[in-house]
Amino acid sequence: MATIYIENKPYDVKEGRNLLEACLDLGFDVPYFCWHPALGSVGACRQCALKLFRDDKDTKGNIIMSCMTQVKNGMRLSIDDPEVVQFRRSCIEWLMLNHPHDCPVCDEGGECHLQDMTVMTGHVYRKTRFRKRTHQNQYLGPFVNHEMNRCIQCYRCVRFYRDYAGGRDLNVFSAHDHVYFGRYQDGILESEFSGNLVEICPTGVFTDKTLKEHYTRKWDLQTAPAICVHCSLGCNTLPGERYGSLRRVQNRFNSRVNGYFLCDRGRFGYAFVNSPDRIRKPVMRSQGNGLKEASQEEVRDYLRSLFHFGARAVGIGSPKASLEANFALRALVGPESFYLGMSSAEYRLVSLITNILSKGPTVTPSLEDMRNSDAVLILGEDVTNTAPLADLALRRAVRQQPMKKMDAAGIPRWNNLAVGYVTQDEKGPLFVASSARTKLDDIATATYRAAPNDLARFGFAIAHALHNEAPQAGEFSEGELSLINNIATALKNADRPLIVSGTGCRSELVIQAAANIAWALNATTHPAGLSYILPECNSLGLMLMGGSSIEEAFAADNAHAETLVILERDLYKLAGKPSVDAFLAKFRHIILLDCLPSETASKAELLLPSATFAEGDGTLVNNEGRAQRFYRVFVASGTVRDSWNWIIDMLKEAGNPDAAAWSTIDDINKTMVDDIPIFRAIPRISPPAGFRISGMKVPRQPHRYSGRTAMQSAISVHEPKSPEDSDSPLAFTMEGYENMPPPSLITRYWTPGWNSVQALSKFQDEVGGPLRGRDPGIRLIEPHEGVAPQYFMKVPRPAGHKAKEWTGVPLYHIFGSEEWSMLSPAVAELAPLPHLALNSEDMKHLKVAEEDMVTLTWNGERFHLPVRQEDSLPKGVAGLPFGLPGMKWIDFDARYRITPMEQKQS
Ligand code: SF4
Ligand code: SF4
Ligand code: FES
Repeated sequence: MATIYIENKPYDVKEGRNLLEACLDLGFDVPYFCWHPALGSVGACRQCALKLFRDDKDTKGNIIMSCMTQVKNGMRLSIDDPEVVQFRRSCIEWLMLNHPHDCPVCDEGGECHLQDMTVMTGHVYRKTRFRKRTHQNQYLGPFVNHEMNRCIQCYRCVRFYRDYAGGRDLNVFSAHDHVYFGRYQDGILESEFSGNLVEICPTGVFTDKTLKEHYTRKWDLQTAPAICVHCSLGCNTLPGERYGSLRRVQNRFNSRVNGYFLCDRGRFGYAFVNSPDRIRKPVMRSQGNGLKEASQEEVRDYLRSLFHFGARAVGIGSPKASLEANFALRALVGPESFYLGMSSAEYRLVSLITNILSKGPTVTPSLEDMRNSDAVLILGEDVTNTAPLADLALRRAVRQQPMKKMDAAGIPRWNNLAVGYVTQDEKGPLFVASSARTKLDDIATATYRAAPNDLARFGFAIAHALHNEAPQAGEFSEGELSLINNIATALKNADRPLIVSGTGCRSELVIQAAANIAWALNATTHPAGLSYILPECNSLGLMLMGGSSIEEAFAADNAHAETLVILERDLYKLAGKPSVDAFLAKFRHIILLDCLPSETASKAELLLPSATFAEGDGTLVNNEGRAQRFYRVFVASGTVRDSWNWIIDMLKEAGNPDAAAWSTIDDINKTMVDDIPIFRAIPRISPPAGFRISGMKVPRQPHRYSGRTAMQSAISVHEPKSPEDSDSPLAFTMEGYENMPPPSLITRYWTPGWNSVQALSKFQDEVGGPLRGRDPGIRLIEPHEGVAPQYFMKVPRPAGHKAKEWTGVPLYHIFGSEEWSMLSPAVAELAPLPHLALNSEDMKHLKVAEEDMVTLTWNGERFHLPVRQEDSLPKGVAGLPFGLPGMKWIDFDARYRITPMEQKQS
């Protein structure tokens, strides 16, 4: 520790810490622009100036940039020295010379870091008399709006976009006071992380275009902590609502998970919540087959008639729904009649991963651990498209080895300018083994392309090269053997090696090979991280709950049950139509709880409107095994309720003794943790509903929230009573505890004078570190240290290639492969159309050109698609875009025949 003196008062801070960060840690309001905790310092804006005195006799001192200075014991500093105050004020004045006077109409107004810093430094009057320099703005795609005149040249945008996120198409152009931040010409931003510019830019140059469509001021947004539902990583978010519609999603900091950033699917994929197609009222199919809205009484009578005491039902859960909704359904139908809403292929993969993670010796790393890994092998997963923030984490990981040079030279890692000079463009080891090209190939040390079976063999061979007790795989070329050895050496030499795999290429063998590699490293060198990407936001949670696959439901003898209850799942996306039709036909009554119509909905006798992530409460378990709570942001219109709430009604009709005492989510959790011990930590992830601070709840609305009475004036000029929330310590009002709530209950980042997202640093233990208290969420599974590796021994044979038969691999698209985000027009605009990808040799063999139609046939099913050339695919492997609208269910375990459409099917 070091003692520094600020205005002659002593403070203890960490020796060597960045001085600006140390001052912010201590709670001082030091202004800054170009520094950012994730990007480090470049000393460009001169805004963080402080006075440094030689000793206590020195009265003159020198002006220094605190963001470029390391803390040293005995430093004497001043923030309030008149000369440095004037210096900072003048800097802002220069930065503002060309800044337009448009705060009242600027999208950023009210949460602008530039506004805050201008007020903080006391630059109040504009003295400039000249014409301001103006720029042409660019069209940057459906996510981000551009207003270049507001730029203050801090360079944060390009440093994030290019240096941090690996984007190439945004840059800085021109010189002097003409510098321009944008693309070389109008066009859609190519980075999957472009939306972070909105939070990175300290002023209103880059703003959220989807918010602009239904703009509202930030102080009029009602917000609550939420979890992203668009992949398995569980990024923490802060969605904002106004007038019953969701207006935007912003990042919610969690140092272990997403840190400061979100991907564009997570940020802009929210519009399905506002869809005009939402199911908002219960709908019942009458005898004449027509649908009609059902009243509360009709629903109650119907449920009473089905769930009388002793009646049996079958339940299909959902890996997209909360633990509580799934557990309530399981309680309703009994564990033996509860199925997980996963296809048999998905079930096998997720259950294998769950076993490896919960019984094996290897730690499943958080995203923060992934960012800190120093050698990485990706086996069979296209993380940019299946778990985008993992891409961003791995782009950090490849910087870890070069950073060791900085440590050796004694230069702090936050000195971004020096990092650039010392490490240049150097990257640490990252190997990508996949069936088709991935976006991370551009930073990979080497890539390997093969069909899933051969990827598994490749992985088995790496494990064997690390530990000869792991089984060997043979029949590799010399080049392949050399790559296998290089990868094994790089992993062995690393301090924190990481293996990333997942369900992406639908192969159990690939998952097993990845485990073998991690276990071989564990047994011989260092503990390795083993991260598996899963299909949905709660896949792991549901598997930990237990149950069987949808095919087992199809095969089970359900003769005793007349009623089927389906939770938030379209069964036609899990299996072929004939099997689903036959299964549904077995039941006299089908109830579906869902938020949007689907093919399954068209078969339901009763459709109950369920809440989306923004309108409900629940717990999700991410791919790391971290249980995290999400809260209702607003009360949806209509009779939308949490699925677990509807099921409580059914349970009560059925006379379930547990459910008799259930009325809140805490009640369900109490029973759930008694019943399923792995969930025992869940009540600790967040305070219970009865939690109060000084007798108060935590408000969802900011204290500046306006127009509450006027909002309902068409109905009544009286201010309506706020809705009650019996499920959480959050209130739907602006009244309540305004200071720092527990981290899992943070509804916004705001402290006096800090209206922008930069206020976050006031909520952290230390700037850039965990939130005060601890970051939200608790890991449910930990490695069994010391357990000897039980290697998977069955090594597959080379995949080979049969003439006229193709292996299929799913191709994922960040914009397109996830059903809910695809209902956001901005996301849908960037999704590809359905197609079949083949390499040029296969196309030549089939005598087809790009866009020619072909027929894909498997197990009696057929599908017509246009062809796209994709030369990164191995010969004999067909790439099938996953989950695009219009693509029906495909069995990826099958072998396919492909015929040009004018040829006769054989
Ligand atoms: S566009 Fe924003 S982030 Fe980029 S340099 Fe200008 S002010 Fe800074
Ligand atoms: S990485 Fe996944 S969880 Fe995170 S924001 Fe993107 S879609 Fe959501
Ligand atoms: S924040 Fe220190 S110079 Fe910009």
